[in-house]
Amino acid sequence: MKQYLKLDEWSIIEESFDPQNHEISESIFSIGNGYMGQRANFEEQYSGTSLQGSYMAGVYYPDKTRVGWWKNGYPEYFAKVLNSTNWIGINVTIDGAVLDLAECEVKDFVRELNMKEGYLSRRFTAVLKDGKEVAVEAIRFVSVKRHEIGAIRYTVTPLNFNGTITLNPYLDGDVQNKDSNYEEKFWLEVEKSAEPELYYLTVKTKKLDFHVTSVMSFDIFKNGSKLDIQPVVSEKEKYVAGEVSVEAHANEPITLFKYVANVTSRDHGLGDLVAAGKSLLTAAKQAGFDTLLSEQAAGWADKWRDSDIIIEGDVSAQQAIRFNIFQLNQTYSGEDDRLNIGPKGFTGEKYGGSTYWDTEAYCIPFYLSTADSHIARNLLIYRYKHLEKAKENAKKLGFTKGALYPMVTMNGEECHNEWEITFEEIHRNGAIAYAIYNYVNYTGDFAYLGQYGLEVLAEISRFWEQRVNFSKAKNKYVMLGVTGPNEYENNVNNNWYTNRIAVWTLEYTLEVLEYLKANESDRYQALIDKLDLQEEETKQWQHIIDNMYYPYDEERGVFLQQDGFLDKELIAVKDLPAGNLPINQNWSWDRILRSCFIKQADVLQGLYFLGNHYDLDTKKRNFDFYEPITVHESSLSPCVHSIIACELGYQEKAYEMYLRTARLDLDNYNNDTEDGCHTTSMAGTWMSIVQGFGGLRVVDGELVLRPFVPSHWDNFSFKVMFRDSRLKVNVTGDSIHVVNETDAPAAICVYDTSYTVDGHGEIKHQNASANL
Ligand code: BGC
Repeated sequence: MKQYLKLDEWSIIEESFDPQNHEISESIFSIGNGYMGQRANFEEQYSGTSLQGSYMAGVYYPDKTRVGWWKNGYPEYFAKVLNSTNWIGINVTIDGAVLDLAECEVKDFVRELNMKEGYLSRRFTAVLKDGKEVAVEAIRFVSVKRHEIGAIRYTVTPLNFNGTITLNPYLDGDVQNKDSNYEEKFWLEVEKSAEPELYYLTVKTKKLDFHVTSVMSFDIFKNGSKLDIQPVVSEKEKYVAGEVSVEAHANEPITLFKYVANVTSRDHGLGDLVAAGKSLLTAAKQAGFDTLLSEQAAGWADKWRDSDIIIEGDVSAQQAIRFNIFQLNQTYSGEDDRLNIGPKGFTGEKYGGSTYWDTEAYCIPFYLSTADSHIARNLLIYRYKHLEKAKENAKKLGFTKGALYPMVTMNGEECHNEWEITFEEIHRNGAIAYAIYNYVNYTGDFAYLGQYGLEVLAEISRFWEQRVNFSKAKNKYVMLGVTGPNEYENNVNNNWYTNRIAVWTLEYTLEVLEYLKANESDRYQALIDKLDLQEEETKQWQHIIDNMYYPYDEERGVFLQQDGFLDKELIAVKDLPAGNLPINQNWSWDRILRSCFIKQADVLQGLYFLGNHYDLDTKKRNFDFYEPITVHESSLSPCVHSIIACELGYQEKAYEMYLRTARLDLDNYNNDTEDGCHTTSMAGTWMSIVQGFGGLRVVDGELVLRPFVPSHWDNFSFKVMFRDSRLKVNVTGDSIHVVNETDAPAAICVYDTSYTVDGHGEIKHQNASANL
């Protein structure tokens, strides 16, 4: 664990330069706007270790699959979000010597991610080999108001000499993905132009023909006055640049403003890319850096108005939750239903930027509560649009009907090529169905069911119908050969969670059919026809619901993770000798698979999703059994344990679990933040606070809160958007204060007392802790 960042409520701050931390910082200080993302690479040349990363959302490459032993049904490729044109680069030379922080003494280094206003800044003094000192200040952002625009202000001040400062801003498309399977470069040049006033470069992917055009323009100022110098332009393959040399006296700041528009063929016709980029760039440049920066602050103020969490009495927790909310908002803005959320967001290459069940299981609650409902809806539409591909996927695996959504995808096709995940981790289908329920339950948008929801539910139900089989021995339906969310057991029979979520899907699908029949009869009939849904099918679903087998231990009263679970030697994680954890780095896979240790919430994941189906005693028995044997080696795990611990009144345990994800990246807990941040698990941290400590649920259209303040905090408050209202919930040791910041009234229940919070009204509920 590395703790090198300064605590601050609104900023992430690094106060000295240590090359050892640089790649970690490149991940943590990433900036993004849902459309593009950029690791915190330096603008000037850096010859030390660095992971270059400029990403354009939805621009990916089908990198040919590489496996040792091919299995039928494996995907042909793994889709990777691409490292695209480096648009931030500015080479700097001082009297001919290259400014490179790996090659000079660095003093007074400060890097800051200003989360309140949405920009990255950096300042330092560099002492070059010849003793010349320069002060540098850089600030950059990708605009949340003009999502194709990025801007940089870069100032160099000679401190102890008069000399020539040369600035060379460029666009470089000759970039690579570090995780490329065959060390292949994925980009080809299409066209470029370098004119002193305007530079552009269009590159395209070798496959799929994604085009990205970057258009650049820059201005140079000395002592605050614009210089009228013609840049010397240069070009090489996939590269354009302009260079300006300025004579400066000591303490005379030279400032470069670099503006870039990055546009892609996802949004513009191939023939329009350059013109579109030029026009966006011209408008941005005319507005000017200061205006763009104040637009940025205003854009982020809106996001914070809807999603902020305030924790009093714990700066470290405050910084952490804001960082998590900030990264989630940087990753997905929800305006484009072709986009989704990769486990690392735009902060690294791992997981290929592709979509996992993480979105449905962990991220949707965050976006449901902190943004307008169309944002979460777009995440559902993304899957709706992939329904045909999910049906093809089921066919490919030998099913005659139904849909199996992929475990990892960019465009609806499966990308994962480990059999125990590709073919067996089918529980993901359940999460996709559950997200529909979650969305409709939260928003009250029942129209979604007839428009899109039922089709997805019915096809997933058809998959479950075929994936179970009737066991004569058990006289029940069983599901064989699966991997549950706990990836530390593969090819198990009757994983409780998978059986349960499958049956729940069937139940919900039948309920939705009933709802549509009663409320939207025309649409109901049209959908029955479209789906060619036969009565025998729905009867069969009911038969499965009534006759499903669930492994259960009568003695302990707990659901069993899978049929053979009790054959395992049960040892608590705390009793493992020191040095064994994490087991995925210290044990052979064979030993892991045979052990009782659980990677991430599995039975408890089911008790979390279907919380209203189980009483507290059941949850307690299962929690008490599973928590001691769970190693939480997926960052997605602790939040579920934290939320259930809150329900059970295990406040210290809940807090301990919350801490495991809260500062996961800021303190590099898992020693892997250099690969990118754990963006999807950041949504889990939000869940731990709002659904855990805040106890938020939606029951029968009413927002229910059962909050308490963890003993480590003085008090906390969070924002929730619910139906047409936005509520600020402030929780102190003895009261819960809910303020409605909008016109629409909201029905809420605090513990067991129902209230209506009028538009711009408020309520105060006393003695929260007495209710625990
Ligand atoms: C987890 C999966 C998750 C994936 C991406 C894995 O380690 O076990 O549940 O979908 O990471 O976050």
